[in-house]
Amino acid sequence: MRRLFRGGRIVDLAAGHGLLAQLMLILDDTSPCALAVDAVVPLSATTLHQALVERWPRLAGRVTFLASPMDVIEIVPGDIVVSIHACGGLTDVVLQLATVARARVAVLPCCHDVDACDAGALSGWMDDSLAIDVMRARRLAGQGYRIWTQRIPQDITPKDRLLIGAPADGFQTDLGHVALHDDRRSERT
Ligand SMILES: C[S@@+](CC[C@H](N)C(=O)[O-])C[C@H]1O[C@@H](n2cnc3c(N)ncnc32)[C@H](O)[C@@H]1O
Repeated sequence: MRRLFRGGRIVDLAAGHGLLAQLMLILDDTSPCALAVDAVVPLSATTLHQALVERWPRLAGRVTFLASPMDVIEIVPGDIVVSIHACGGLTDVVLQLATVARARVAVLPCCHDVDACDAGALSGWMDDSLAIDVMRARRLAGQGYRIWTQRIPQDITPKDRLLIGAPADGFQTDLGHVALHDDRRSERT
């Protein structure tokens, strides 16, 4: 994902310990800061953060943990919104918050809930969870996003479908305006 998206604030929603937010900064230092939001920030988030700062001192002062419901978070167009395992319909809230702001987004959904999420009447052809993620991907594309669908290794998590999106008309970051044709070129290299 960092090969596609550089710069911009990282906003990790349903962040838990905020590990993803911090990995995003470790993997690519072009993002100035990260915001890790969870309804309940675990006490051990501080312990984990301190351990990471010991190993990567450049993380110090760049990660904010916020105990808050995600739907009140203000997202701006330059942000990169990420969320791992936002359960059930929470992944749809993440996608909605990102798309309303025209921010870049990446989600790895889990706990697919056919009652809370849209399976698009596709469940006769594929399992419910795949149908829900297909609908998410097509909805994102229908909102004027270029999408990337990938899978991560199953030994990391069996909930392995990664959906990435960026406004198809480009986006503004602290590194300047990025047009998607540049991304396509960098994907090939
Ligand atoms: C399965 S955990 C994933 C945590 C983390 N992303 C990870 O992969 O380890 C889901 C998280 O969503 C949080 N959560 C649930 N509802 C939320 C909401 N409305 N706003 C923010 N966080 C929420 C929970 O507190 C929980 O930490």
